[in-house]
Amino acid sequence: MPVVRGKDIEMLFSASAIARRNLELAKDIAARDYDNLLVISILKGSFIFAADLIRAMHDAGVEPEVEFIFISSYGSGTTSGEVKVLRDIDNDVRGRDVLLIDDILESGKTLKFTRELMVSRGAKSVSIAVLLDKRTRRQTEIDADYVGFECPDYFVVGYGMDVAHAFRELPFVGVVRGEA
Ligand code: IMP
Ligand code: MG
Repeated sequence: MPVVRGKDIEMLFSASAIARRNLELAKDIAARDYDNLLVISILKGSFIFAADLIRAMHDAGVEPEVEFIFISSYGSGTTSGEVKVLRDIDNDVRGRDVLLIDDILESGKTLKFTRELMVSRGAKSVSIAVLLDKRTRRQTEIDADYVGFECPDYFVVGYGMDVAHAFRELPFVGVVRGEA
C-alpha cells in the first residue's frame, strides 16, 4: 500500500486506469458532436480530471473552450446542504453546449444546482462528466452523461480530491486507511 505523509493509502483507481478511462470518455464525448462546446470545470476537486480529460478530448478531435466555476456546498450529504457560487465563470453560456466536469457525483446537489444555473442562463444543452459516481448516496434526481468509474461508498482522496486540504496531488484515487 502506498504510504503518504505517514498514512496508508489504499489505491482504488490507479493513474494508468484513469488515463485509459479518460481516453474512452473523450471518444464518447467526441461522438456526441457538440457544437461550440464550452467545458466548465467545477473547482476545486475537478481540476486534475478536467486537465486530463480536455487533453484526451483534444486527441479525440474536440476543441472546447474552458471555464472554471468555484462552487462550495456546505453540509453536503445532508438535506440542509447549501450550494453557492464562490467564483463565477467569465463567459456567456447562452446558446452554447455546456459540459460540466466534476470529480464526484454524490448527493447530486452540486451538479443539480450548477446545471440549473446554466439552463437558467440560456445554455442550449448541459451535459455532465464526472470521474466518480457514488450512486448509493444520491439525494436528488440527477445522472451524469459520462462516468469514469462507479465508486464504492468510501471517502476518497487524490487526483484532485482532498481530505482537509491534503492529498490533492496524488496521481491516483485512494482511500486513507490510517497510520502506516
Ligand atoms: P454532492 O453535491 O453531494 O454530489 O457533492 C459532490 C462534491 O462533494 C464533490 O464535488 C466533492 O468535492 C465532494 N466529495 C464527495 N465525496 C467525496 C470524497 O469521497 N472525497 C472528496 N470529496 C468528496
Ligand atoms: Mg467538489
